[in-house]
Amino acid sequence: MRNRITEILGVPYPIIAGPMRLISLGEMAGQFSEIGGFGQIAASGLSSDRLRSEVQRAQEITRGPIGGNIPLYRPNAKEAIEIAIECGLKTITTSAGDPAKFIERIKQGGLKVLHKVSSVEMGLKAERAGVDGVIAMGFEAGGHLGREGITTMCLVPQLADALNVPVVAAGGIADARGLLAAFALGAEGVEMGTRLVATRQCPAPAFFKESLLEAKCDSTILLGKEAMPARMLRNKASLAISNRDKTQEDKTLKETGDRNYVMQAADRDSALMPCGQIGGLIKDVKDIRELIPELLEEARSLSSKVHAYLQEGGHPGL
Ligand SMILES: Cc1cc2nc3c(=O)[nH]c(=O)nc-3n(C[C@H](O)[C@H](O)[C@H](O)COP(=O)(O)O)c2cc1C
Repeated sequence: MRNRITEILGVPYPIIAGPMRLISLGEMAGQFSEIGGFGQIAASGLSSDRLRSEVQRAQEITRGPIGGNIPLYRPNAKEAIEIAIECGLKTITTSAGDPAKFIERIKQGGLKVLHKVSSVEMGLKAERAGVDGVIAMGFEAGGHLGREGITTMCLVPQLADALNVPVVAAGGIADARGLLAAFALGAEGVEMGTRLVATRQCPAPAFFKESLLEAKCDSTILLGKEAMPARMLRNKASLAISNRDKTQEDKTLKETGDRNYVMQAADRDSALMPCGQIGGLIKDVKDIRELIPELLEEARSLSSKVHAYLQEGGHPGL
């Protein structure tokens, strides 16, 4: 499955474990890379020492490449980049901020970088800054989103046409159908977040996994629309922040978002649980060692059915 994304990441399969704050730690990242995907440590919320030790934990589990995700607007972004270089990472992903401010050091340190974007304009800007590729984050995704509201289905092909660097699709991908669709849209890789919450290796509390398995396609709510939108499960905690006064909503989310984040919360009512619209599709907790081979096998079989349908007509029988 070699392509520009597997080259950049140094892994057999162009499948990225979406970084999840205080969830994507050494154990999960190591296990994901060990099976041929690209596991990464989410630097968000970690002290420098903790980031170092989580990277080391992942490197104990696998000899495969490990990535780190660095939100560029957070005050520790510079330090996190230094740690990535010091720990011998080869590729990082960046989000929420301007890569131009950091690219010189990233490149000097010998790192490759994929930057998360939510519009064609952002993609072009990141390409001009010198990133190696972009992660197109559609509006249906879980977690923090762009303000533009563009879905994966529309964002990926427009980015693929506009950019010279390769595009990874993120948002709404949880099974072989999503994987195949992403490739058809012009992506050279996929990033999954919500699907990975419902895995045995995910250290999220049981109440988060249970809430996700119960979710329907309309179970998410978008908060902080005007400032820094975030998609999460609709529950008491997220409804308490939701407000007709959007300025007030942004303010409350900024003040309480990190504190009430699922990895610090006591139960399903008080936790803010980021989740994508694809949550409604997820009905079981899988072992990540089964997930990738299953995804690839099903995508291949699906692709043959679509091919036969396009050649011969009839119902694709999907
Ligand atoms: C619980 C959770 C936490 C997340 N935390 C982060 C984060 O810290 N940094 C980041 O860049 N993206 C974060 N994301 C987004 C994911 O990395 C990924 O891009 C996204 O989940 C893909 O869309 P999907 O949820 O439809 O699979 C988070 C997503 C979830 C579900």
